[in-house]
Amino acid sequence: QILILDFGSQYTQLIARRIRELNVYCEIHPFTHAPDLTEDIRGVVLSGSPCSVRDPEAPNPDLSRYLGKVPVLGVCYGAQLLASQNGGDVLPATIREYGRARLSHLDATNPLMRELTSGSQVWMSHGDTIKTLPAGFEIIASTPEVDVAAYHVLGQPTYGIQFHPEVTHSTEGKLLMRNFVVDICGCDQSWTPEHFVDSMVLALQNTIGPDDKVILGLSGGVDSSVAALLLHRAIGPRLHGIFVNNGLLRKDEFESVLHSYKDLGLNVRGVDASQEFYAALAGISDPEGKRKAIGRTFVEIFDQEAQKVEGARWLAQGTIYPDVIESVSVKGPAVTIKSHHNVGGLPEKMNLKIVEPLRALFKDEVRQVGDALELPHNILHRHPFPGPGLGIRILGDVTPHKVDLLQRADDIFINGLREFGLYEQVWQAGVMLLPIQSVGVMGDERTYEQVVALRAVTSVDGMTADWAHLPYDFLAYVSNKIINQVRGINRVVYDISSKPPATIEWE
Ligand code: XMP
Repeated sequence: QILILDFGSQYTQLIARRIRELNVYCEIHPFTHAPDLTEDIRGVVLSGSPCSVRDPEAPNPDLSRYLGKVPVLGVCYGAQLLASQNGGDVLPATIREYGRARLSHLDATNPLMRELTSGSQVWMSHGDTIKTLPAGFEIIASTPEVDVAAYHVLGQPTYGIQFHPEVTHSTEGKLLMRNFVVDICGCDQSWTPEHFVDSMVLALQNTIGPDDKVILGLSGGVDSSVAALLLHRAIGPRLHGIFVNNGLLRKDEFESVLHSYKDLGLNVRGVDASQEFYAALAGISDPEGKRKAIGRTFVEIFDQEAQKVEGARWLAQGTIYPDVIESVSVKGPAVTIKSHHNVGGLPEKMNLKIVEPLRALFKDEVRQVGDALELPHNILHRHPFPGPGLGIRILGDVTPHKVDLLQRADDIFINGLREFGLYEQVWQAGVMLLPIQSVGVMGDERTYEQVVALRAVTSVDGMTADWAHLPYDFLAYVSNKIINQVRGINRVVYDISSKPPATIEWE
């Protein structure tokens, strides 16, 4: 594997993504917890940082445990750090280089630069620049503005680059990463989804005792479903899945997802607790109040059901790598475990140990593993859906009648997206039931009914999003169908706000 030492750059995760895309396993560790060199570590990447090496407070770990022993690649701050630790000069750049630049000179005979082309576009983002290199460091690439765009330490496999190969604007960045990871570090490119499945199944079998039972909360989402399939392959029916219907799922979703799980042979119990959730939500209008009521009820129901599994030793969770990195980030000690991953006090109360089979994977890798495990397409490519479900898409208080109205409108919208071949072009979609009524006319009658807003966004990770530019014909079709078929709704509007400043959900 490749070790990525994180100095807090916004791009560190991208370095990991690029290396994983080469089918090479890598891990990010904060520089404050730099691991010792083991046989598994074939190379080290030093990340960028918002800090300046000239600042006495800036990260300055002892790297002697790696240097000269395994290949090391410093990226941006990492490159400046290596240069400055060895006596080079790092100074504020006269012009701050931010954005695209072109490599004007490069030494194509150097293994790091092999097959890169002169004039290749690279992405720069730095306020400091390496003015003079230490003795024994040679320049292997420059741009018109930056002499030391890349260097090599003579006699050892240590390299530094000022630009960011992990950003897609560096058009040959992937080739450079391949040169480092495969040619220089000698990693074989065997880390595929199939390889992950085989090794994780073995690891689970070795960790979980031969008679141990494992409890897992399933939601119908990709992460928990993939975790379930891995565990099922490892321990079969000793996996006890619990799928709670909170009454706030999409129309017919509980039945259809449960059916898919059964078809996959999973040992899953469906628990319909809709009434308990409606009772807990009665009269609550405040969004955070609703989230809390839903969360609390979920923990109660899950607890009750889990206690019924006699002799359970483990609680499985669908934690994925971004959650893990967040919790050990160099930016702060805060351990942020997403609330839906944390099932109340269950692990302590039942003396359960935690198992997290997906904690090394990024979201897209979870999908690839799901594909390798033949998770059905309808679950694998499902839009994200919030844990509190329709509860936060009904603005104001939640009643079973409102849930019914919204489920029917939402079903028309989502099925419409599928019928028009738009479902997979959209990252997430849903309908919001607004707490207002408006006047309409139907036949000879004046109506005074609810308004719904359609929401559909394009996004990569949900952090930022644009409203989806859906065709007018499609919007017209959905609007007509909702107003004609869902008694109680007489007006449909389309949300054309981006995130930021709006959010995807309305609550
Ligand atoms: P926002 O509305 O913040 O949503 O732009 C970003 C993503 O997060 C989902 N979301 C939630 N997911 N519990 C969840 O599990 C929540 O309380 C929650 N609130 C928002 C939202 O659906 C979108 O995918």
